[in-house]
Order: sequence, then structure tokens, then C-alpha cells
Amino acid sequence: MRRFLLLAVAASLGACATSPKQTTGTVDNAPLSLIPMPAQVQRTPGHFRIAADTKIVVAPGDVQARRVAGQLQGWIRQARGLTLDIVEGKAGSGGIALATEAAVKGREAYTLDVGSAGVRIAANDETGLFYGAVTYWQLLTDPNARNGVPGVHIVDAPRFEWRGLMLDSSRHFQSVSEIEHLLDQMAMHKLNTFHWHLTDDQGWRLQIEKYPKLTEVGACRKAVGPDVALTGGKDEPYCGFYTQEQAKQIVAYAAERHITVVPEIEMPGHAQAAVASYPKFGAGGKKLAVSSDWGVNTALYNVDDGTFTFLQDVLDEVMAIFPSTYIHVGGDEAAKDEWERSKTVQAKMKSLGIDDEEKMQGWFIARIGDYLDKHGRRLIGWDEILDGKVPASATVMSWRGTEGAIKAANAGHDVVLAPSPTLYLDQLQSSLPDEPPGRPSGQTLKTIYDFDPVPTAIAPDKAKHVLGAEATLFSEYLPNWYRIQHAAFPRMAALAERTWSSRTDWHGFLARLPVQMSRYRAAGIVPADSAFAVAIADEPAMGGNAKVTLSNQTGYGTLRYTTDGSAPTPQSTAYTGPFEVPLPTTVRANAFDGQFGLAGPRDRSIDAKSLLRRTSDELDMCGNKLVLRLESPQAVDGQRPVYKVDIMDTCWMWKGVKLDGRYGIAVTVDRLPYNYALWKDVKGIVSRKARTAAGELEVHQDTCDGPKLTTIPLAKAKDGRATLNGILPKREGTHDLCFVITGKPGPKLWVLGDVQLR
Ligand code: ACM
Repeated sequence: MRRFLLLAVAASLGACATSPKQTTGTVDNAPLSLIPMPAQVQRTPGHFRIAADTKIVVAPGDVQARRVAGQLQGWIRQARGLTLDIVEGKAGSGGIALATEAAVKGREAYTLDVGSAGVRIAANDETGLFYGAVTYWQLLTDPNARNGVPGVHIVDAPRFEWRGLMLDSSRHFQSVSEIEHLLDQMAMHKLNTFHWHLTDDQGWRLQIEKYPKLTEVGACRKAVGPDVALTGGKDEPYCGFYTQEQAKQIVAYAAERHITVVPEIEMPGHAQAAVASYPKFGAGGKKLAVSSDWGVNTALYNVDDGTFTFLQDVLDEVMAIFPSTYIHVGGDEAAKDEWERSKTVQAKMKSLGIDDEEKMQGWFIARIGDYLDKHGRRLIGWDEILDGKVPASATVMSWRGTEGAIKAANAGHDVVLAPSPTLYLDQLQSSLPDEPPGRPSGQTLKTIYDFDPVPTAIAPDKAKHVLGAEATLFSEYLPNWYRIQHAAFPRMAALAERTWSSRTDWHGFLARLPVQMSRYRAAGIVPADSAFAVAIADEPAMGGNAKVTLSNQTGYGTLRYTTDGSAPTPQSTAYTGPFEVPLPTTVRANAFDGQFGLAGPRDRSIDAKSLLRRTSDELDMCGNKLVLRLESPQAVDGQRPVYKVDIMDTCWMWKGVKLDGRYGIAVTVDRLPYNYALWKDVKGIVSRKARTAAGELEVHQDTCDGPKLTTIPLAKAKDGRATLNGILPKREGTHDLCFVITGKPGPKLWVLGDVQLR
């Protein structure tokens, strides 16, 4: 019987890479949980089930297929506990065949055929074989395919050549094994470019042999705020760097997974860690420490020949470690204050006939670009490099929205889209109260999915300049691996689909995600469940009850809830619309896809007091200058409280408060370090007249300039978290309440935790 089957495989698989022999039988139309969705998927009859004696077959001497076979063997061992033999045989001699084949056209392209008799993956390059194997592994890890992968004929190739993820290892540092874990996942999403942000004001993270102080000095900064918990004390510096050996290990690990590592060495700005290490290469003439402040620090490199020698020496070592065609040189947010003030920089500009500092940056970047060109590499930089004259060969990474990409592509530069805030994964993905701290602009799974890497304003004949897109993991608010996972997964899946697939299908994507979430968990990844988790909202109702409204971000799944404190199950009451509960009640809820819980259950304890309380997350901000969700360095009951605050305008609104007969108010406040470098934005900080040294919290009626209802001095809070009481004068009717903190944010920041009315 087995012999016969193998012959049948030879007949069906050997025949043709692109049209499998149609065998009789019915086609299984259960959805395939593939992410990114392949270009063409045609369902065919039959199923293929692997067994302990299934072989992985490669042609004799096909070393590329042999390497991929070894990788596939490892994945199957992890998924199924079977170690399949890899054997040499004629392509199409049964089992799982991998074949290098010129007939499959396109870089990274592959075909995958599954029939009752076997599997065949064909490509003209090793990367294509690898991606074909990834697709087969995805089919194999779909729980619906436990009894065999259904018959399918897939023809696939990527839409874009640059499918990237940027990791910032400067603001916070990741271990080599964490980065390898990330690279594993990138590969399984068919992402192929790991952009590694290795230097910045807050840390130089790559060993450079010729300049040891870059890591002796530049890899450590003072621990501030939550970093104190990472280092073990405020006198313990935050340090870390990668040796050249470790960086090479990461390059090799990535290469095995068909990922190119593009290193980023920032210049001429974001240079403070380097300038702190070697002050003579700085333009400011001041001794600086490695920065502990997030934002725009103003240290710039000098423009003399000695500084270029330094940068070229650094790039020599960088190029020796990283074989990538592209070398990223930053170029963003280079505040020109130091160049404006420096006599030597001004003299240099005069000698070059350059009349402004932005053009001087162009000259600087062009000089580095020439150096890279001479070494057979290409410069890529953030879109500020367009502000000067850069070589046509320079590639532009657009982060200030998509404007840079449009301008650059229309001018004939290659571009990569990494627009802020859309593809900035340090932006939070929901407004759930249990989201970690971070930047709260709300870049949801759907925001990422809806992003098309080719903006419509790029002329059709210039669209070819769009190499692709990448998401960024800037790490000011991603201090550890847990937070990175939460930020990256599953939004990375949306990025993968948009950079690989020409087809978009949001609802289909959502339906494919539950299986992807289970793949994450099997790989030891803790993904965010924010797209599915239930948000529980409440408001007072008649008769002393509360009205409860449930929702989830994507609208996917059936929402189910309990009111007796028990965990929600697939049998719990299905939510059909707002409902009332008596007080007190704890509502617990989850979203289900059949029997599968899509998220962790969420709960909300509702009582008379909670209905009169708002956390800073539940209040409105008075403006939108620089809103953050910040964590307290100190834990309360084992958790660090998170505060939503505009660090340039400490002002919150509670809209539509029924004040009849109420007068007691309690506010919880806290005091956080103010470690922000705001550069010119400093001028926009809102300062309010304080009456006392510690300042006050004022409550105003209707507007922030409206009648002052009460003033609560902050001195009593000393220098940390405290709950302070006040009294509101008697008011009738519904009013907005504005809460302002007097004084000026910095060098410490008062924040509002919550407001309780009585
Ligand atoms: C950037 O976010 N400054 C590239």
C-alpha cells in the first residue's frame, strides 16, 4: 500500500510544480489560517498526514533544499514530536519534497502543493524554499489540520522586498536570546529586514575596538524612574552593549532565517552617548553625560576631519560585522543649536559656501554616503536626510508620517515606509485600563492592517521606489521582553500581511488570528489580546442599579459575561446589548470564537463608590501636547500604578458630572521624575501660577478658566503617591470638572491618579 502511495506521489508531484494532478475526492474548504495570506491559494482534494516514517526528500546535491529541509525538520519536531528523516531522492518521490527549480519565477517566490500523496515545495532560490516551508509549517500547526493538512496549491511571492522591523536597543537593551526569539518570529511572518537601532543619546550599544570608550562610557547611563527597578537602585547605572562576537552571532542567526540585519549608527544627532565618550567629536564643546532623558537631546557631532575619521573608522568596523547592502545612519531630529553656536562649524560652513545648518546636515550625510558608496554599501536614513542634498543612491526611511516617502519617491529615491504614529509599535494598541504604560495614541491592529505602504500621492511611475515598510519598536517605554512582545504581537502579523500580500481581507485576517495566537503561545510568546479583550463600561442607572456596556475593539467573537464572580465560559450568557446590574456586582467577560477564549477574561467591580470614581485613563486630557501613560517607579499592592498625563500640560477633564448634593472629593496624586528633553517644545509647556512651593491641585467648574471650586495643596503628599481630600461647594446640575496642577512640570512631575466623589 505504502509503495503504491509513493508511486502516486511521484506521478502527481513530479509532473508539474504549478498544477498538481487532480486526484478524486472532495475539497476541504475549512479556512486556512495562513498569515501572511499567499498570493494564490487553490484548494485541491485530499489531505496529507505526516507519520513517523514520512521522509523529507531533497534532490542529491541540492544544498539549498538540504538546509531548508533541516530547518523544516526542526519545526516539525517541535510541532509534532516527530523527527523525520531527510533523504535524497528524485524530486517528487513522495513525502515532503523540497526542490530548487528555475521554473518558479521571482525572488523569494515559491509554490506549495499538498495532496493525499505528499507535499512539494519548489522555488528558484533558498529563500523561496524557506518561505514555502514556513507556509507548510503554518498549515501543519493549524489545529484544524490535526488529521492531515488539506490539499492545496499555493503560488506565492512577496509584494515588497523590504518587510522590516526596527528594534531600539539603545533606550533599553535586549539580550541576544531575546533578539533571537524576535528573529525566529520575524522569519515565521516572512519578515526579512531587522533594522537594529544600536546607538542613541541614551546608550551606545555596539563594541567598537578602535574606540573602547564608546562602550566603557557610552553604554551606561544613570538609572531614572522605572529603570531603577531594572538596575536595583538609583545609584546603579543602566548598562549594556553587544560585543562584536555577539553582533556577528545575531547576523548569522538572522541570515539562517533569511533576514538581513541593517545596523543603524545615528548621526549627526542622537549622538550624546558617543560625545559623552569622546567629547572632542562633539560640536558643543561641553562635557556631557550619557543622557537619561527621552526626547530630543541636542548633542551633535562636529564637522571637522577628525570627527569624520572617527565616524569612518566606526563604519569600517560596522561594515565588517554587518554584510547588509544598507547601512542606516539615522539623520533624524538633529537639533542644530550646537552648530549654530559653534565658531568652527560656522567657519567650516563658510568655507564650503553653505549658508544654513540644514544644508550642512545634507553635506554631512552626503560625505558619509560617499564613504559607504566607495565600500559598496548604500546609505539609508530617516526622512530628514532629504532636507539637504543627498546622493540619488540614498534611500529614505519615512517616519514623519508619509510625507518624506512621497517627496523622496517622487524625487527618484528609494523609500521605506515607517510612519509615526501608524507603524510605531511603542504606541499603545487599545485604551483598555490594563494596557502597559506607553504612548497612548492608539495604533490598533486594524490601524496597522489598514496601512498601505504605497501612499496614493506617489506618482504611479514612482511607486517602484517603494521598497516596502517596517514597524518600529522604540524602547523608551518597552523596557523588557514582556513589553516588547506585547507591543509586537499580534500587530506584527498585520504588518506581515500588508508587506507580503497584495491582497487584503481584514475579516479573513481576524478569522485567521486565533490560530496565530495559539502559534505564538506554543513558541513561548505572550501576545497582546487587546484586539479581542472585553472593555466593560458602566454608568449609574435608575433604582440604584448600574448600566453595563460591553465591547471589544475588533467586534470579533461572541462576548459572554457572568455577574456571579465566576469565570466566563463558552456557555456563559451572550451579550446582546447594555444590561443592568444591582450594586455591588462584579462583571466578568470574555470574547469567544466557538469554544476558544480569544482573550484573558476582564472584570470590573461595580459599586456605588466606583460609579463616582474616574482614573486618569478615564478622564479626558485638556489638550494633546505630549500625552503619555507613565508608570510609577513605586509599586502599590505589587503593581505599579499607571498615570495618563500630558507632560506639557498637567490638566484633566471629567465631563458631565452630576453634582447635586455632593461635596466630598478625594484625589490620588503621585510625583514622578521628569526625564524628558523637549528641545524647542519646552516653550509650549503650560505653567500655572502656584500659591505654595509644592503647588496645588485646583478643581474648576465647566472650563479650566471657570470658577474655582476647590484648591488642594500638594505639600501634604510630600513627594510621592498620596490621596488628598477636599470639599466642593454645593452645586446643582451637571457640570464638567477641570483638574489642573499649578506650577510647571519639571524637574519633577505631579500626576493625577484618580478622582473620587462622595
Ligand atoms: C524617529 O522616530 N526619530 C525616527
